[in-house]
Amino acid sequence: AAAMAAERGLVMATCTAPVNIAVIKYWGKRDTDLILPINSSLSVTLHQDQLKTTTTAAASRDFTEDRLWLNGKEADVGHPRVQACLREVRRLARKRRGGGEDTAALSLSYKIHIASENNFPTAAGLASSAAGYACLVSALARLYGLEEELSEVARRGSGSACRSMFGGFVQWQRGERPDGTDSLALQVAPETHWPELRVLVLVVSGEKKPVGSTVGMQTSVETSPLLKHRAEVVVPKRLAQMMQHIQERDFEGFGQLAMRDSNQFHATCLDTFPPIFYLTDLSRQIIALAHRYNAHHGHTKVAYTFDAGPNAVIFALADTVAEFVEVVRRSFPPATNGDQFVRGLPVGSATLSQELVAAVVTEPVPGAVQYILHTKPGPGPQLVDDPSQHLLGADGLPRSRA
Ligand code: DP6
Repeated sequence: AAAMAAERGLVMATCTAPVNIAVIKYWGKRDTDLILPINSSLSVTLHQDQLKTTTTAAASRDFTEDRLWLNGKEADVGHPRVQACLREVRRLARKRRGGGEDTAALSLSYKIHIASENNFPTAAGLASSAAGYACLVSALARLYGLEEELSEVARRGSGSACRSMFGGFVQWQRGERPDGTDSLALQVAPETHWPELRVLVLVVSGEKKPVGSTVGMQTSVETSPLLKHRAEVVVPKRLAQMMQHIQERDFEGFGQLAMRDSNQFHATCLDTFPPIFYLTDLSRQIIALAHRYNAHHGHTKVAYTFDAGPNAVIFALADTVAEFVEVVRRSFPPATNGDQFVRGLPVGSATLSQELVAAVVTEPVPGAVQYILHTKPGPGPQLVDDPSQHLLGADGLPRSRA
């Protein structure tokens, strides 16, 4: 089928890519065009069974213009960051062909169509740009037959996207060179490294975030002395510590440092002038709940982290999940969707002791948490082999969605 399609001058490739959550945060660029960060960062790639982007890229001599569809709706293919990714992939493909023995007759001058969709509601405010750009670059790379490591290209779409090019535990090295050729993502450990690690996403709001990360971090770079100190002094030490905690599967150390780094990121937001607020009253209630829960148990059982939005991401080991989910259910009783309150990986049932409830559950806030998504670390971008999964039809247009 692919060969027939190629004869008609239509070639198509579909990939999926994951979301990632940083435990040492990226915040601030030293070059806004190339997207070069002021500090290195480290993240956990989340499993695509729960959260993923799927992207189909197609090229044909019959296409008259480049086109893009996001979640079924046509979007602006001229977006500078989409264009940067396209340009870089095409440049690499051209370089490769210049090198000689090219066979695959996909012309670089063909226009392309791209369709992308998420398996989670975009409105849920779950970081979708990282998965989106990682997926775009992966699908384009397949289309043009590129096999090299492309985190440097994904970085041009969104900084955090370069970390979604790998599974497991991933470091984005800030690099030193002005041209960005050493600002790359590297896998620190694969997703199989820490089999007991679990992730709970507490989806608290469908509202759009007040200030986007791109604008927010630039204001922070310009005005926050704390951010400068963080990038120069704090992060280098923390990065080394975090790598060691991961190598040793030391949840106490990992969790403590993840919480501290999230808190410091939000402190730099408050130190920005005018200040930026991503944490809400509910975020603070979740933070306090996690600390009460850990204090009750006498060690770090759960660790929170928050990005540029109000959703909470909780790390825990598998044997803690059922109990903590019950604590969240008691603290934020679901308003309506009681049966759909927990989604994703199965969660066992737990009975809370009276001591635990008395110590940890204070004043319940009904309906504040919409739902909990239970997931775990997962692999990097994947090729989708099954042609029935392409998001574009043989005519190069989005297939009607079920
Ligand atoms: C708070 O990668 O979305 O999630 O590079 O401007 O696209 P741009 O920003 P983006 O910023 C992510 C910031 C963060 C922390 C992190 O993921 O490391």
